[in-house]
Amino acid sequence: MAHIKFDSSKLSKFVHDNELGQMQALVTAADTELREGTGAGNDFRGFIDLPVDYDKDEFARIKAAAKKIQSDSEVFVAIGIGGSYLGARMAVDFLSHTFRNYEPGRKLPEVYFAGNSISGSYLADLIDMIGDRDFSLNVISKSGTTTEPSIAFRILKAKLIAKYGEAGAKGRIYATTDRAKGALKTESDAQGYEEFVVPDDIGGRYSVLSAVGLLPIAVAGGDIDELMHGAADARSEYSDADLSKNEAYQYAAYRNILYRKGYTTELLENYEPTLQYLSEWWKQLMGESEGKDEKGIYPSSANFSTDLHSLGQYIQEGLRNLMETVVWVEQPNHDLTIPVEAGSQDGLAYLENRKMSEVNRKAYEGVVLAHLDGGVPVMTVSIPKQDAYTLGYLIYFFEAAVAISGYLNGINPFNQPGVESYKRNMFALLGRPGYEEMTKELNARL
Ligand code: PA5
Repeated sequence: MAHIKFDSSKLSKFVHDNELGQMQALVTAADTELREGTGAGNDFRGFIDLPVDYDKDEFARIKAAAKKIQSDSEVFVAIGIGGSYLGARMAVDFLSHTFRNYEPGRKLPEVYFAGNSISGSYLADLIDMIGDRDFSLNVISKSGTTTEPSIAFRILKAKLIAKYGEAGAKGRIYATTDRAKGALKTESDAQGYEEFVVPDDIGGRYSVLSAVGLLPIAVAGGDIDELMHGAADARSEYSDADLSKNEAYQYAAYRNILYRKGYTTELLENYEPTLQYLSEWWKQLMGESEGKDEKGIYPSSANFSTDLHSLGQYIQEGLRNLMETVVWVEQPNHDLTIPVEAGSQDGLAYLENRKMSEVNRKAYEGVVLAHLDGGVPVMTVSIPKQDAYTLGYLIYFFEAAVAISGYLNGINPFNQPGVESYKRNMFALLGRPGYEEMTKELNARL
C-alpha cells in the first residue's frame, strides 16, 4: 500500500467516471516511452532508478563531508539556483524546525542559500550575518557557468580566503558539478576542492536526490538514508502502468483530463508553512518540464490559510481556469490546544480546549468544499507526516507524475530550451564578448 495517498474523490463534478479509464491507453504509451527510452529527452531518465542506482561511495563521502562541516562550521552556505537550489531548500525547510537557524539548543550549523538572485543587498546581508564565524561553502552548478551562483561564489570565496587564507579556504569549499566539464569543474580540479557529481542523466529539477540536494540536506541534519529509502519504495510503488494501481499516474492523468477542459493553471497548496518551498520546487519541476511548445499547465501555489486572506477571493470567484492540489499533512510535527480564557471577547469560546490541528483540518475541509462549489477541481495528496522517508516518497511521486504528464501532452519533459532566452539578452546587455551585434539591437529596442 502506498505510503502517501492521492485522493481524486472530489472530482466527480468535473470528470466523468469513464474518463480515467479512457486515459489508460495513453498512459500505457507514455509509460513505455519513459521506461524503454523511446520518448523525447531519453538521455535524462536517470531519476527513475536514482533511488536505488546511485554512487554508494559518493553517498558515504557526502555523509562524511556533512559531518566535517557540522564540526568545523557555524554557518553553511549552499550556492545554487533553480534545480541546483530548490530541492535542498525544500527539504531543509520540510525537515526542520520552522525557525531552524534560530532554534534554541540547535547544535548544527546555520544553513543559508545564496546565488539564487542577483541582489547585492541579499548577499551583503548574508555576509553580515556570517560575520567572523566559521563557515563553509557548497557551490552547486551542473553547467558551472550560471551567472547568479558564479557571482555569489566569487564574493563568498573572497570572504573565505580573507578569513582562512588560500589553503584554508580550499578545505571549506565543496563543489557539486558535472563529472567532466565546465568552469566549476576546471576550477575544482585545479584547486583541489572536494567534488561531488551531478549525474549526466539527471536534469537540474530532478536532481534533489543526487549530491545536489543530499549534501545541504545532510549538513542541515536531514536523514538522507531515509530520504533515499522513501524514494526507493515509491519507485516500486509507482512502476506499474496500470492506472488503477499507480496513484502518481492517476494524478498525471487527471491533470491532463482537466487541462484539456480548460483548467490551465494548477495551484499546489499546503496548510503548513514549512511546505512553502515544496511548492517552489514543484513549480520548477512542473513548469520547466511541461511549459513548452506553447502548451502546458501553469504551475502556481498558495499557502493556506495565509493566502485565503489574499488570493481566496480570486480562487473562489475569479476566472475559472484553476485546479488545485493540496499536500495535506495528516500528523503535524506539533500541536497546541487553544486555551480557556475567562471573560474572553474574541469569540473563540467554542474553540476552547480544541487542538489547532483540528481547526486547521476543518479549514482545509471547508476550503475544499467551498472551492468545489466555486467550480475549482480539487485533488489532495495526503502525507502521514513530515519526515525524510515521506519526503523521499513524495519527491518521487511528483517526478514520476510529471514525466508521464509531459509525454501525455506530447512534449519533452526533460529539456528546458526556453530558459536560455533571457540569459542571452542579459549577456548582451552586460556587454559580454561575442554578443556585440545583439547588444546594439537590444539597446535600440530599450
Ligand atoms: O533546470 C534548469 O535547467 C535550471 O533551473 C538550472 O537548474 C539552473 O539554471 C542552474 O543550473 P546549473 O546547475 O547549471 O547552475
